[in-house]
Amino acid sequence: MGGNKIKEGTNIPAHIAIIMDGNGRWAKKRLMPRSFGHRQGMERMVGLMEHAFDVGVSYVTVYALSTENLKRPKEELEGLYNLIRKHFTEYMGRVCARGVRLRVIGDISLLPEDVQEVLRDSEAKTACYEGKGINIALCYGGRAEIVRAANLAIERGEAVTEESFDSLMYTGGQPDPDLIIRTGKEVRLSNFLLWQAAYAELYFSDKMFPEFSDRDLDKAIVWFSGRTRRFGKTDEQL
Ligand code: FPP
Repeated sequence: MGGNKIKEGTNIPAHIAIIMDGNGRWAKKRLMPRSFGHRQGMERMVGLMEHAFDVGVSYVTVYALSTENLKRPKEELEGLYNLIRKHFTEYMGRVCARGVRLRVIGDISLLPEDVQEVLRDSEAKTACYEGKGINIALCYGGRAEIVRAANLAIERGEAVTEESFDSLMYTGGQPDPDLIIRTGKEVRLSNFLLWQAAYAELYFSDKMFPEFSDRDLDKAIVWFSGRTRRFGKTDEQL
């Protein structure tokens, strides 16, 4: 375990994004309902966020619900909405008390009204903070985000540059994710942060999300620190 600990001199990513996959399989293996997996997943999500800020990460983005996930059975979705209704304010309050701004990214108008209210309240409470942030992707799709930005640009009636287009993304003003982690054995982006992922390092873990520990996050950060990011240049130009 000690071998994965973060040592001085480690290059800490400014922005980590996580695809929290495997809650359902983790629960199934324990003969428990999927909602139990999501409950454990939410606990782990908060723990990982706290740990990430402790080691010096400035932004954490998590994929909590994709637009496609909205087609899941009603009971599973209700389970997730109930988690938000019951625990979101307290859990996020705990993480954001460190001066972290919360943004919910995605089309939350697709969620029940009272759930939208909980999310907006939590966002509003942290609107005064700058420099550190959490983005929770809910009813999110990367292509939909790009189309939304394109429509905003059309409304403005001006040609866009990469920089101006970037500012129209939900994550406008934040650094791009340096490291994207996906748990749960799958090796794909699943429509997550398509625009922002251009130069991210991608890290895949076989662990199911509820069992992805703080030490596992350290291991991913140490792996990231050992990568050479060339951004299209040659080694000699760096
Ligand atoms: C994917 O695993 C996970 C989700 C669709 C939900 C992720 C949600 C949380 C971690 C906690 C809830 C957080 C909020 C903010 C509501 P899966 O269920 O697809 O797992 P499987 O691939 O094993 O079936």
